[in-house]
Amino acid sequence: MNTNVKTELLRRMSAGKEHPVSGQQLADEFGVSRTAIWKYVKELETEGYEIGSVRKKGYYLIASPDAVTPAAIQQYLTTPLYGSTIRYTGTCPSTQLIAHDEAQNGAADGTVIIADEQTAGKGRLSRPWSSAAGKGIWMSVITRPALTPQQAPQMTLVTAVAIVRAIEECTSVTPSIKWPNDILVNGRKLTGILTELQADPDRVKAIILGIGMNVNQEPDDFPSELQSIATSLRIEEGQPVSRAKLVAAVLSYLEQYVSLYVEKGFAPLKLLWESYADSIGRRIRVSTLQETYEAVARGISDDGRLEVQLDDGTIRGIYSADIHII
Ligand code: BTN
Repeated sequence: MNTNVKTELLRRMSAGKEHPVSGQQLADEFGVSRTAIWKYVKELETEGYEIGSVRKKGYYLIASPDAVTPAAIQQYLTTPLYGSTIRYTGTCPSTQLIAHDEAQNGAADGTVIIADEQTAGKGRLSRPWSSAAGKGIWMSVITRPALTPQQAPQMTLVTAVAIVRAIEECTSVTPSIKWPNDILVNGRKLTGILTELQADPDRVKAIILGIGMNVNQEPDDFPSELQSIATSLRIEEGQPVSRAKLVAAVLSYLEQYVSLYVEKGFAPLKLLWESYADSIGRRIRVSTLQETYEAVARGISDDGRLEVQLDDGTIRGIYSADIHII
């Protein structure tokens, strides 16, 4: 299937009944037969798109399913690189696993692996990640920024900023960031980020950004143990949200902010990140594998550590921990 033609067909059909797309014109432009265009239309219908036609004028879109297929996402994409290759699967254990294989096999910078459902989604510290069919965005983005392995942890923070900006663009929800990788709304978890690295000692080969976003779950769609701590955009917004539009927005901001990070360093992103962070200036409990203690969150350092001040005045920079505002 030629995704470009299908994406273009979808994009143009979105102009509504008043501006139908001529199948013949599209066929001529892309050098394919009129029958091929008709087959794309039928294929889109089997994917759940409702398509109308105006005699002798062409096709138009009546309604779209909430799909995260390449054509559904690419019709909204505005950036050149991220998302130009999207591998979609209906169901898989974890998009991270596929992304690692693809990255090892040379997948290009910005390749996206996305699934409608994951059966063994994984979170930080090998925790399970609930990834029900048709409800969220479960995707892994393979990035190849010119960074050293020491600069890789900040990519989680860069990704978090891209995600909050995309949420703000697509909804009226106001999210905040909980260091290092959670995006919260009203204190409940909306999104998690899992950053994994393929590197030589002095060079990043690939950074796999695993992004899990709760989009269209109703409260009962979450497993009972998550119902009081997780939320979705639909719950917060009071109406369904287009997953494809949101994926495209995340990819656009991500491409923009990763380039900014590579070109100008972390300083501009650090400011943005701090403007969304919910913990700065607050008293928190820090739990690492070794210890638990209380401190005040002061900000993040240029290398992505959370800087906290202990009660005796000493400042500590932490790379990895769970934090709770108290
Ligand atoms: C966390 O908050 O612990 C991180 C959650 C990351 C979940 C995403 S969903 C897409 C990708 N595939 C996975 O198995 N995990 C990440």
